[in-house]
Amino acid sequence: MLDSQARFKVVACGRRWGKTELGKTTILIQAWMENKRCWWLTPTRQMASQVWQDLKNSIAPLKNIRINETERRIDFPDGGMIALRSAHNPDNLRGEGLDLVLLDEAAFM
Ligand SMILES: Nc1ncnc2c1ncn2[C@@H]1O[C@H](COP(=O)(O)OP(=O)(O)O)[C@@H](O)[C@H]1O
Ligand SMILES: [Mg+2]
Repeated sequence: MLDSQARFKVVACGRRWGKTELGKTTILIQAWMENKRCWWLTPTRQMASQVWQDLKNSIAPLKNIRINETERRIDFPDGGMIALRSAHNPDNLRGEGLDLVLLDEAAFM
């Protein structure tokens, strides 16, 4: 899926296929290597707790990274950013210019 150059990619996959895993890889590539500003959205804040731990583990070896625990936000040295946000209150999803928004468990939003 990552290698495909198609504009739209529609993939039928069930539970435990690796959708969240693919999302973590995607958002890290975009924010860290492509300097993109990204949001990771989940229906509730709690649903992103494991992803937050995993992302922090992945970037642990990198230098000059700023991690904000309260905002669950990672800033990379060249302008890339990942922020984990809950879609629970749509009014909170305003105000930032973004390059990528990844919706995990979108069916429950
Ligand atoms: N490419 C992969 N290699 C090894 N383990 C993987 C891979 N993709 C997913 N997994 C593991 O499989 C399990 C399910 O993956 P997950 O991304 O949570 O699936 P989904 O979001 O589609 O339900 C997790 O334990 C995850 O770490
Ligand atoms: Mg998942």
